[in-house]
Amino acid sequence: MGACTYSISAIFSIFLIHVSMGASDPTQRNILQCLSNHSWSSPPISSVAFFPDDPSYVSVLQSYIRNLRFMSTTTPKPLFIVAPTHVSHIQASIICSKIHGLQVRIRSGGHDYDGLSYVSDVPFIIVDMFNLRAISLDVENGSAWVESGATLGEVYYRIAEKSKILGFPAGVCPTVGVGGHFSGGGYGNLMRKYGLSVDNVIDAKIVDVNGRLLDRESMGEDLFWAIRGGGGASFGVIVSWKIKLVSVPEKVTVFKVERTLEQGASGIVQQWQEVADEINEDLFIRVVLMPSKQKKQRTVKAKFVALFLGNAGKLRALMDQSFPKLGLKQEDYMEMNWIQSVLFWSNYPNGTSMDVLLERQPKSEKFLKKKSDYVQEPIQKPGLEGLWKKMMELGKPVLTFNPYGGKMSEISELDAPFPHRAGNKYKIQYSVNWKEEGVEASDRNLDLIRKLFDYMTPYVSKSPRCSYLNYRDVDLGTNGIGTGSYSEASIWGTKYFKGNFDKLVQVKSVADPHNFFRYEQSIPPITNWKGKMAE
Ligand SMILES: Cc1cc2nc3c(=O)[nH]c(=O)nc-3n(C[C@H](O)[C@H](O)[C@H](O)COP(=O)(O)OP(=O)(O)OC[C@H]3O[C@@H](n4cnc5c(N)ncnc54)[C@H](O)[C@@H]3O)c2cc1C
Ligand SMILES: *[C@@H]1O[C@H](CO)[C@@H](O)[C@H](O)[C@H]1NC(C)=O
Ligand SMILES: *[C@@H]1O[C@H](CO)[C@@H](O)[C@H](O)[C@H]1NC(C)=O
Ligand SMILES: *[C@@H]1O[C@H](CO)[C@@H](O)[C@H](O)[C@H]1NC(C)=O
Repeated sequence: MGACTYSISAIFSIFLIHVSMGASDPTQRNILQCLSNHSWSSPPISSVAFFPDDPSYVSVLQSYIRNLRFMSTTTPKPLFIVAPTHVSHIQASIICSKIHGLQVRIRSGGHDYDGLSYVSDVPFIIVDMFNLRAISLDVENGSAWVESGATLGEVYYRIAEKSKILGFPAGVCPTVGVGGHFSGGGYGNLMRKYGLSVDNVIDAKIVDVNGRLLDRESMGEDLFWAIRGGGGASFGVIVSWKIKLVSVPEKVTVFKVERTLEQGASGIVQQWQEVADEINEDLFIRVVLMPSKQKKQRTVKAKFVALFLGNAGKLRALMDQSFPKLGLKQEDYMEMNWIQSVLFWSNYPNGTSMDVLLERQPKSEKFLKKKSDYVQEPIQKPGLEGLWKKMMELGKPVLTFNPYGGKMSEISELDAPFPHRAGNKYKIQYSVNWKEEGVEASDRNLDLIRKLFDYMTPYVSKSPRCSYLNYRDVDLGTNGIGTGSYSEASIWGTKYFKGNFDKLVQVKSVADPHNFFRYEQSIPPITNWKGKMAE
């Protein structure tokens, strides 16, 4: 239900390295030779390349699968996995994959909802970034270099270790990987104050299709623009990011309360829609809507979770004035420092040590499917009441409303590939999880979430019906591996990027004209611009 479950497992192994087995298969020997020839560093690349005959292959593959739908025996597996400890390992992986006609999947935290960072229908390898996760902070300068294999929890931990008044605007789930999160936008509860993660990225290092290591200056502003929200894996392997830290007060205030329909949830959500995107940008109030049962009676429960960058007194005045329907009591307001609020938002109990942010494995894995929408006009009472009915009927899918406005409305739609700025009141995430294995359970649950998505059609953005790239959804359409035509891609591309899709195509055409970095939802280069060229 909550996007985030927390881990009680021991801290996952820090540095996974092994001694290479004698490679008996000639192709394997050839590939290993190629990898060694094109890399230099200690440990050698052979010690971080995992082939299927290696005892660690399965555990390395599974360590960062975050959706059980893609962990079955029938899920296509990579020919091998490279877990680079050095940039030259990435460079060699790209060069040798080109030579051997293999596709590269790039994985950082592995949270891609549809598994596109580690599954493919054509022969492929995984470049798995978990060993590259250094974070170096420059507190005086208020900046940091963060490697892509770091998790958000590690980023928050390293900041809090050095400063009580610095933070960073990114997602609320600590196990999400920096590599995918930043290259897909990255939002969290500081979004209304500071924008997205990509709005606070000031430099980056990428290995391109030719194996060159480039920074912002050498890659140029167009490519730097594209990787800040356009999906990194269409353009290269992003090694690290320089981020601008933001200031947070020493004391912040949070609350988390639930209201059922019987307790007036409908009217409260209505008022939330009027105020959540307009209110002071120091305040972020998320709503999670869940079907529920109270004394055998079906209902819907609305959970309101907030972060306020200020003290409880100030928040109380704000709530009394603008959002009285929620009916908060004095004891609902909890003051704490920013890092404690990070733990609170991830559902850790009060008093939990921030060390849990260093745990890289979530407590439990699920089968899951997610979808997203943008809402530009408040949904009126009849629409909401229909939604409650629908949710009770379907019984399972959960909706999360995240408010926009504030800084999000001030940043131009063209500033980064992420286009959902002014004019959006809130974003919806649809979510369904299940525990049963098998196709039948999967089909049943996919059907539930798609039905809810269909129900919402009249109430959400149109032409295009927009979606958030980091809420990956292959239902929106895919390229068809190898074809990658402009017209196919523009169907999902304009939903994620609106008008920025065309600029992404242009950047792709220069950065990777032969479409080496391709996957189901990669940006096609202009050489495949079939429909457009014919016009
Ligand atoms: C539990 C959970 C909570 C979440 N909460 C939030 C949230 O609060 N806010 C939010 O914005 N999103 C959230 N998300 C979505 C999340 O931001 C995306 O799934 C994100 O893409 C995950 O990044 P990753 O590195 O973990 O994923 P991966 O699966 O490793 O990668 C995702 C995509 O990025 C590509 N990629 C990864 N690393 C690199 C790299 N180094 N270079 C180039 N391409 C790369 C992959 O190939 C793939 O296409 C959440 C997801 C989950 C599962
Ligand atoms: C690797 O380099 C050696 C020595 O230069 C060369 O003989 C060999 O052909 C190369 N092999 C591959 C697969 O690149
Ligand atoms: C400090 O940050 C500014 C930009 O915010 C930058 O211009 C400057 O070079 C940085 N200084 C150091 C030492 O990194
Ligand atoms: C957390 O627990 C401490 C110690 O029990 C208590 O003093 C504090 O008020 C609690 N904070 C919150 C936000 O509940």
